[in-house]
Order: sequence, then structure tokens, then C-alpha cells
Amino acid sequence: MRRSRTAHQTPTVLVAGGAGFLGSHLCEALFEDGYRVICIDNFLTGRMENIKSLVGQPRFRLIEQDICSPLTLGEPVDRIFNLACAASPPRYQADPIHTTRTCVIGTLNLLELAVSDGARFLQASTSEVYGDPEQHPQREDYLGHVNCTGPRACYDEGKRTAETLCFDYLRADMADVRVARIFNTYGPRMDPADGRIVSNLVMQALEKRPLTIFGDGRQTRSFCYVTDLVQGLLRLMDIDPNPRQPLNLGNPGEFTVLELADLVRELTRTRSPMKFLPLPEDDPRRRRPDIARAKALLGWSPKVPLRQGLLRTIAHFADRDESAMVPRVGAINKSGAVGFEAGDPEDPDGSRALVAEAEHPTKILVGPDKRHGERSGAAEAINQGHRPDGGRGNRRLPATSLHHVSRMLRQPDDDASSTRGSRQHPRAGS
Ligand SMILES: NC(=O)c1ccc[n+]([C@@H]2O[C@H](COP(=O)([O-])OP(=O)(O)OC[C@H]3O[C@@H](n4cnc5c(N)ncnc54)[C@H](O)[C@@H]3O)[C@@H](O)[C@H]2O)c1
Repeated sequence: MRRSRTAHQTPTVLVAGGAGFLGSHLCEALFEDGYRVICIDNFLTGRMENIKSLVGQPRFRLIEQDICSPLTLGEPVDRIFNLACAASPPRYQADPIHTTRTCVIGTLNLLELAVSDGARFLQASTSEVYGDPEQHPQREDYLGHVNCTGPRACYDEGKRTAETLCFDYLRADMADVRVARIFNTYGPRMDPADGRIVSNLVMQALEKRPLTIFGDGRQTRSFCYVTDLVQGLLRLMDIDPNPRQPLNLGNPGEFTVLELADLVRELTRTRSPMKFLPLPEDDPRRRRPDIARAKALLGWSPKVPLRQGLLRTIAHFADRDESAMVPRVGAINKSGAVGFEAGDPEDPDGSRALVAEAEHPTKILVGPDKRHGERSGAAEAINQGHRPDGGRGNRRLPATSLHHVSRMLRQPDDDASSTRGSRQHPRAGS
């Protein structure tokens, strides 16, 4: 039975995974639009730091819970964004069973909530549903090339099953469901230690370590700045009628990993050499979204150029409070204790940890947590940013060496001014 809400109430949006990288930017954008925002997060990879501007605000509520557990909010919601799921390969491979549970059981729980509340639902799916694609660029009608038994399968197949559930609920007319296939997105609040390419290269450059390149660096990626992506998600949630098909959201600009590394070196003014390591299993060779559908249906396309987005990301990372960070996955062993850390005297440039993550992702586990829905010791350690040996400590670039970044960021930039977009969306509550 649908729970009733009075017509004058401020519309309420639930963001699952709202304390993560994308989720926290989305919560802020929704809050600025006048919504009441409920964030539900188990803090597996999310951080309080990300939502500190919202915590304590009257229109913001935080629920610390795993979405795999039954959800009872005690109040109806109008819209649900499901972003809950670790997105970085070392993080989601750390406990692959929990990753699949999150994608399948967690999504199911949220869909049921959408049914009982009559809420509109948006699923954050991923370009990983295309696997290692044989079609380039990837269009939404490409069915994918996915390995269902590999180490990435918990995420790729989990997300594919989540999409299946979404379209079954939609076809059965049980809920108004939308699906965004998100391509590589970067920006401030990415976890600098989560093993994703932009954060890896920026952190290595800032710390003047060798830049790690997997394979020969000629594999390509596309990079979407976070504010652009959030605009796409908001538009997809707003649009009427329901597109009833998945939409790619990402930046179609395609760069080789070597090109990205060169740009990072230029912007950070570092001369760090490149260090080549073997390509991880199932690593896609080419990634670029075809966004024709999103352009046509949402009138959306990304605005922030890579150079500008990287500058903002570099500035953010250089200014980060390392004590609030999630430790490297390589630093957490099966029992949930924290082991070696990049910065280890035996691993001065951190590459041993990276190789370990790439070659043996399932061996550096946050142990399978039989108490899904509660917080494992490892999750606790992650959440608390626990660093028994102090890790690398607060290694930052000397302040003077980043003056050029702030100077470049102050220069007028046409694209930058349009990142908060002109969504045709009535301000909620007004
Ligand atoms: N960032 C990208 O480039 C990218 C690309 C494709 C898809 N996505 C999708 O977007 C979403 C957000 O990605 P992100 O980059 O912000 O990742 P993230 O790891 O920073 O955020 C995920 C959030 O979900 C929370 N979470 C994980 N499992 C949970 C569970 N079982 N219950 C409750 N909370 C849980 C985490 O604590 C974290 O706050 C993910 O679903 C991801 O698959 C992201």
C-alpha cells in the first residue's frame, strides 16, 4: 500500500550511497534545488567528510545502513537514486559476494521501497555492463562482452542483473524506473587511494612518485567531470515521459592512458617518470560512450574540458585532509587488520601494492562478511580511515609548487560557468 504524503510537503529524495564520491555531489545538488534529502550509506567506501556541508542541516537526514538489509525509513520518499555500490575495482573486488548482494538484493530492496512509496527510481548503472567491448564507441543497444566468472564479474554482472530488475519493475508497471549507464567520472572527493586511474596518476604526480601505467598505456578511456555527470542524472530523473531505455552518461572525449598521464604531469609540473605494469585481467582496451541518446532525450552533454576538470581535481587532492581518507585496499587483509601500506620502506613508490591489487585482487580482501547489513571490522577500519602506522602521513606538495594550479583555475573559463547547467526543473518546494 502506498504511504500518503500531504501535497504541501517538501519533496523528499533518497540517495543510496549518498556519502560516496558521486552520491555526495548529487546530495548537494538536490539540497540546493530545495529537496529534502535522505542519504543512506553503510560507509564502506563513503566518508562523512564528503557530506559534512549537509550533516546537521534541517532538510538533510543521514541513515547509516546497508541497503541489503530491509529498508524502513519511517517516512515516504518521492524519488530514489540508487548509487550504493563501491565503484573502484580493488574496492568492489575486496568482498565480491557483498558487491553482488549490494547490486542485486540492495537494488531489489530499493525497488520495493519505490513501489510502496510510488517513488520514481533511478539506477546508477555502469559502462562495465559492456565488459571489454567489441563495439566502439559503445551505444546502448550493444549487448556487451562480459566475463561472468572473472574477478570483475561481481560488479559487471551484478550491475547487469540490477538493470534486469529495473526493467522488469518498469515493464510490470510497478515503478517508474530509469537507468543511467555511467562512464568513468572523476573530480574532487574521489578516493585518492582507491586505485582508479585519475586518482592514481594525480596522487603519484603530487607525491612525485613514478606514474603507474598498466599495459602499454595505449588503451583508451573517456573522462567525465563530476558536475556534468550529476546534471545528467538529475535530468534523467526529471524527464517526462520515461525514456524506458538505458542512457549512457559520460564524456565522449577519448584519451589514451599515456595522454592522460602526460596531461597530469604538465598540470602538476612534475617530472615523475612512468612505470609500466602488467594489464589487469579483463581490463577493457577501449572505452568511449556514444551519448547521442542522452543528447536527444535529455538535451544533455558534458561541458567541462579534461584540462579544467583535472585542475580542479588536482587542487582538491593537494588540499585534502589525509586523516579522513579511506586507506589503500592493499592495506587491509582478510581478517580486517591493516597490513602494508604504500610508503612502506620496502615499497617506496607504492607500486608493489598496485601490482598486488592488479594481479591478485581477490587476495587482498576485506574478508567476506557473513553479517551483511552490519559493518565488518574491515569496513569499520575503512570508515575510520584507520592507519596504524600513520601510512604516508600528511605528505603534501609544498604550497608554493601548486600556485600555478590556483592561478590557472582563476582564469575565466566559459565551460566552467555552465557546469551547474540550466536544468528545466522547478525548484522543489518553491
Ligand atoms: N565514479 C564512476 O566513474 C562510476 C562509473 C560507473 C558507475 N558508477 C556508479 O555510480 C555509483 C557511485 O559511484 P562512486 O564513484 O560514487 O563510488 P563510491 O564508492 O565513492 O560510492 C559508493 C557509495 O555507496 C556506499 N555503499 C556501498 N555498498 C553499500 C551498501 N551495500 N549499502 C549502503 N551503501 C553502500 C559506499 O559506502 C559509498 O558511499 C556506483 O553505483 C557506481 O557503480 C560510478
